[in-house]
Amino acid sequence: MADPCVHGSRGDCAISVRRGGLSVLGEGVRKAVPGARVIMLAVDEGVRTRWAPAAHASLEAAGLRVHVVPLQADENEKSIAAVERVWAAMLQAGMQRGDALVALGGGIAGDLAGFAAATFLRGIPLVMAPTTLLAMVDASIGGKTAVNLPLPKGGLGKNLAGAFHAPSWVLCDVDTLATLSDRDFRCGLAECVKHALIADPAMLRWMRGTCASILAREPVALEELVRRSVAIKAAVVSRDEFECGERAHLNLGHTFGHALESVLHDRLRHGEAVAIGLVAAVAASRAAGWWPDADPAEVAAALAQVGLPTKVPTSVDRATLNVAMGFDKKGSGGRRRLVLLRGPGQPAVLDDATDAIVDAGWSAVGA
Ligand code: GLY
Repeated sequence: MADPCVHGSRGDCAISVRRGGLSVLGEGVRKAVPGARVIMLAVDEGVRTRWAPAAHASLEAAGLRVHVVPLQADENEKSIAAVERVWAAMLQAGMQRGDALVALGGGIAGDLAGFAAATFLRGIPLVMAPTTLLAMVDASIGGKTAVNLPLPKGGLGKNLAGAFHAPSWVLCDVDTLATLSDRDFRCGLAECVKHALIADPAMLRWMRGTCASILAREPVALEELVRRSVAIKAAVVSRDEFECGERAHLNLGHTFGHALESVLHDRLRHGEAVAIGLVAAVAASRAAGWWPDADPAEVAAALAQVGLPTKVPTSVDRATLNVAMGFDKKGSGGRRRLVLLRGPGQPAVLDDATDAIVDAGWSAVGA
């Protein structure tokens, strides 16, 4: 399978998926951003000792002048203050509009560094070198960059300030997945299952058959997993870069999932909440009459096989979840939108989800 590519309004963005990719980072940046002389390597603290030296060496070997700015992979640090630190480092390095920022790390680092690149000098080239499965198959693809903002009543509003800023190149070095924790790795698998459900039922069968190799993080299996998953997202984003329509299908399971994540933030990570949300969405698809043969238990089995949760882990009041979903009577503003499935690989948006449909989703996951 060839490397996927996003065809965007500002040109194509190749997504290279390979082992040992960081050793060719410099060469690839030279090709993707021919005008760059200075590189700001924005490094997620979580991978600084293990992966930054290889990235740094490769960029320098390609004749690029490299500066490094560290980033904390923490939602509280995904802030304008952190972006200011990246801007200051880029000013200090004397970077010009043709120079580039390379983001090395997970989704938080990529979103934050991407936003700094989108706004510095009104936008400089960005290269993504994701090191988590979630960042490879989702966050790095499609040009969404953002930071969180403090909400007036307290707490954090996720991704409330951001910009679309398509990367010039994405390099997924699957070797970097070897150092990911099991929990983080499984969270990325939830997005792979989501991609399979919305566009490639054969991929779900392949994942089930290859599960042992995937969980053992065998490089050949990882390359195929990332390439297939990225190809699905790249195709969707190429057809709807700015989320005017079809891109919303990537939110399958996320409306249920986000509600769980916000109510049970101390218990569930994003990918785990999405996994439960996918089971709920399949059950809701059946309740809506869109996919009468839908079998939530089958999807749950696929998710459980890779160690993801498929039931709400503790008792939660359904009304609380509906409020978190924005589906309560007062707060919904009349819109109760859900991405559901009309069949395997056939996502669509339901604009007026009834209580019965939403309840069927929650019942399937024990809420
Ligand atoms: N993660 C969903 C999107 O990129 O649109």
